Amino acid sequence: MKAMMKKTFHKLVVGLLAMTGLIWSAAGAAAGGNTALQLARNDVSNIASLQRGARNFVNYCSGCHSAKYVRYSRLAQDLALSEKQVTDNLMFSGERIHDTITVSMRPEDASHWFGTAPPDLSLIARSRGTDYIYSFLKSFYLDPSRPTGTNNLILPGTAMPHVLWELQGLQRAVYDGESDAEHNVVHKQFKEFELAKQGSLSPQEYDQFVRDTVNFLDYIAEPMQLERRNLGMRVLAFLIIFFLFAYFLKKEFWKDVK
Ligand code: HEC
Repeated sequence: MKAMMKKTFHKLVVGLLAMTGLIWSAAGAAAGGNTALQLARNDVSNIASLQRGARNFVNYCSGCHSAKYVRYSRLAQDLALSEKQVTDNLMFSGERIHDTITVSMRPEDASHWFGTAPPDLSLIARSRGTDYIYSFLKSFYLDPSRPTGTNNLILPGTAMPHVLWELQGLQRAVYDGESDAEHNVVHKQFKEFELAKQGSLSPQEYDQFVRDTVNFLDYIAEPMQLERRNLGMRVLAFLIIFFLFAYFLKKEFWKDVK
């Protein structure tokens, strides 16, 4: 009887381990679609970073991109800012505190100027992923053949100009490659970026600037995640305390039954 129970237990443990392994590898496969992306490493619980990200967004992105699901009043609440701070620092064109972040450019004009209308960025972090946006904003490089003067390694031929060039500077793409004269083709592979013109930020500062911006986009794509994480921590703390109580109670109850 005991041996059988042991065997069943064994099977159960092996089964559980296998299942955990399966889930783990499936999660890994889902996460690792494009290995060329750089990791954003942003942290939505970092309120100071979100505040900087909001400032970056309204100063450098909202001229072309709206965030139509985001209300200024909600920003004030979630980012620990007073309504006055929001009005003074994040709103420039006479919006009211309960308005959403819109763009003043008309979509027809935008399409006319850029060939394609800049997408609303409310949910972009969910549809593209934070690592994608982080890499995208770091991968503009000089390309005289493009109307904007720059191209992008992550989204080749993009219509978006390198709007952050004054901060990052301008970089050149360096390729590794051999030309195969016989077949008249060039095998070239991207190697690295090389700074051609210094920007006003150092590379580390620019990374931080982009990380904060991406962090803000991550937050607006799912504002509830701040609350969810907070609640999750409290539930875990409760479970741990509850477990301790239950454990000592059980010890107390069973101490005479042996
Ligand atoms: C001068 C206008 C302009 C500004 C300013 C601007 N963008 Fe864009 N952005 C565009 C256009 C146009 C597109 C569409 C690009 C395309 O589809 O090729 C775009 C596309 C994007 C995309 C989607 C890329 C994809 O894979 O579809 C992201 C993400 C993005 N922008 C982020 C930003 C962020 C973050 C900022 C602020 C730092 C910003 N943009 C500022 C014009 C702009």
